[in-house]
Amino acid sequence: MHKYFFILGHSPQISQAEIEAVLEKLLGEHNIIAASDEVLIIGYKIYNNASFQIKDLIRKLGGTIKIGKILDEVELEEDSNIVTKISGKLTAERLLDKYFQQNTERINFGFSAYCLDSNIPKSISKKLLKLGLELKKELKRKGHSVRLVSSKEKTLSSVIVGENKLIEKGADICLLISKDKIYLGRTLAVQEYKRFIQRDYARPDRDVKSGMLPPKLARIMVNLSQADPDDVLLDPFCGSGTILQEALLLGIKKVIGSDISLKAVQDTRNNLEWLTKNYQLPTTSYQLITSDIKDLPSKFKEQVAVIVTEPFLGPPLKGNESLEKIKTVSKELSELYLKSFRVFSQILKKNGRVVIVFPIFRKVNQEISLPIVSEIEQMGFQVQKNLLSNARGGLVYSRPDQKVLREIFRFKKIY
Ligand SMILES: C[S@@+](CC[C@H](N)C(=O)[O-])C[C@H]1O[C@@H](n2cnc3c(N)ncnc32)[C@H](O)[C@@H]1O
Repeated sequence: MHKYFFILGHSPQISQAEIEAVLEKLLGEHNIIAASDEVLIIGYKIYNNASFQIKDLIRKLGGTIKIGKILDEVELEEDSNIVTKISGKLTAERLLDKYFQQNTERINFGFSAYCLDSNIPKSISKKLLKLGLELKKELKRKGHSVRLVSSKEKTLSSVIVGENKLIEKGADICLLISKDKIYLGRTLAVQEYKRFIQRDYARPDRDVKSGMLPPKLARIMVNLSQADPDDVLLDPFCGSGTILQEALLLGIKKVIGSDISLKAVQDTRNNLEWLTKNYQLPTTSYQLITSDIKDLPSKFKEQVAVIVTEPFLGPPLKGNESLEKIKTVSKELSELYLKSFRVFSQILKKNGRVVIVFPIFRKVNQEISLPIVSEIEQMGFQVQKNLLSNARGGLVYSRPDQKVLREIFRFKKIY
């Protein structure tokens, strides 16, 4: 069995849920060997032309920073020194034979250390630097031209790996450290961070005021919906069209966007035109409608297979609002969400899926979420929970200091 590792983004549960949703559709059978807040290790039987497929896979995912292959496993005893242990395995010969990209004139390499289930000692980057320098000397003695890429952090970021061409010219050697074992591997692909930044900032219309979903999260949500290319996907609160954009890039052939605001619909139109010109899209079609969610059923006859959306999350909060005020906002939004689900039950096919953001309001030590999940279930929707979700079945996506957190739910229409 081949083992692959996935380095997870800043909301690891969501990143892991996305990987599982995508792999389930792509490969069917795969098993999780280990998981932590930083890394997920997956076992898979076939994967021939792996590096090619891995490049496709990382392009598909919004929440994964690196994907690589495990090449060695080193058992640890209590109190073993991690770097001493791996230096026995990572000889210059082994690196040349298994880890480095072959036939490269100049070798660029570096180390990244990730936690599986035990904390990594702070001194690790210094020790890895020392090991790297020894290996560099040894490789030079063997006649190779070598550069060691190091960082003060315990990991090399995807930007450093990309800019120093570690994948093409040498290796980003990854140590995945658990209590009793170190997995050693090399990165095969890193996230195309520049493309995400471009889609966030270079598109013609951005609406910072009404809140924009980061393209990475929009992509994660489309992947969580497990939509097929022939499924019709609707975003009924499309804003500037981030979800529709990522859905088209993921190969969904038909998307529909609607919004109560004429400006939002125009922004979406401009952004999707820009996308069509700047990205090689397969044949696609999009339909845009200006409508209040409550009037949507009368606007189109077609039933959709998938709804992926971030509705209105309330007015921007400063953080000093009273609990009373937050409860009032939460009540108003609960009404909007329940109204939306009534509409969804009319326009969604049976077994259709909804992937939707709920707001969670953070107030000092308190988090206030919309208390509507059981009412939605009574309308015929089932929350798709898994081991990664919270007690309500949601996956939380947040940044430090955020006043409004995002709680992502997956529902299935069962009747
Ligand atoms: C948070 S924004 C969506 C952001 C979008 N996902 C993006 O990345 O651009 C919410 C959108 O909901 C729309 N909206 C608010 N109330 C609505 C309603 N009753 N019916 C339809 N759209 C509504 C707003 O006009 C706004 O564009």
